[in-house]
Amino acid sequence: MGKKKAKSSKSTERSAFGVTILKSNHSRIRALKKEHEPDIHGDKVWNSSFLIMDYLDRQGIQEGSKVMEVGCGWGLLGIYCAKKWGADVIGVDADNKVFPYLHLHAEVNEVTMRTRMARFENLKKSHLEGTNLMLGGDICFWDEMVDPLSKLVNRAMKAGIDQVIIADPGRPPFDEVCVRAQKKWGAELKQWEVETPSRARGWLLIVGGQA
Ligand SMILES: C[S@@+](CC[C@H](N)C(=O)[O-])C[C@H]1O[C@@H](n2cnc3c(N)ncnc32)[C@H](O)[C@@H]1O
Repeated sequence: MGKKKAKSSKSTERSAFGVTILKSNHSRIRALKKEHEPDIHGDKVWNSSFLIMDYLDRQGIQEGSKVMEVGCGWGLLGIYCAKKWGADVIGVDADNKVFPYLHLHAEVNEVTMRTRMARFENLKKSHLEGTNLMLGGDICFWDEMVDPLSKLVNRAMKAGIDQVIIADPGRPPFDEVCVRAQKKWGAELKQWEVETPSRARGWLLIVGGQA
């Protein structure tokens, strides 16, 4: 029998939109999984985040922008904004067990990202003021999320946030948030797809204009 081959870093990490993402077989992710088991599906990077990264690759983010990623999970979307665009980013999530994964990825990508544990409904106007861009990938998957998320979009627009972008594969609760945002704010809905890091298709709800 030959010697066991050492695992190359390539088999334990991948790259997308300039951001390094550790796979679930990476030793540091495996170590975190033993200690922190996220409760509300924040246990991986979800594809809708890649749809928003691809959109932002084209639209851009103005220098010095303040970005809030809500339902951030591992925070790769926020990390992308910090790494590619130099944005000042905060990640917000109801589940504090996601934050060790976020901070590990921030470290690996050599950026910093602040965090706040809060539910959508607990983000007050004062938390939102000063933010230019609010983002969220795969954050509307239960019926009970429709009201809190729609109201958060309303508070964000009233607090002066320039643009809110939420992406989803197209689940019914997300559709309802879109209907409400289109009615109240004339929001746009765009079908979007990416080929890498894996083929994904979904929808972007875009409220407001470029930050
Ligand atoms: C499907 S994961 C998506 C994570 C990340 N946005 C991504 O694309 O990889 C949904 C995330 O939303 C968070 N979440 C669920 N309900 C929430 C709420 N009411 N307020 C804030 N965050 C919430 C979960 O803890 C989880 O991290």
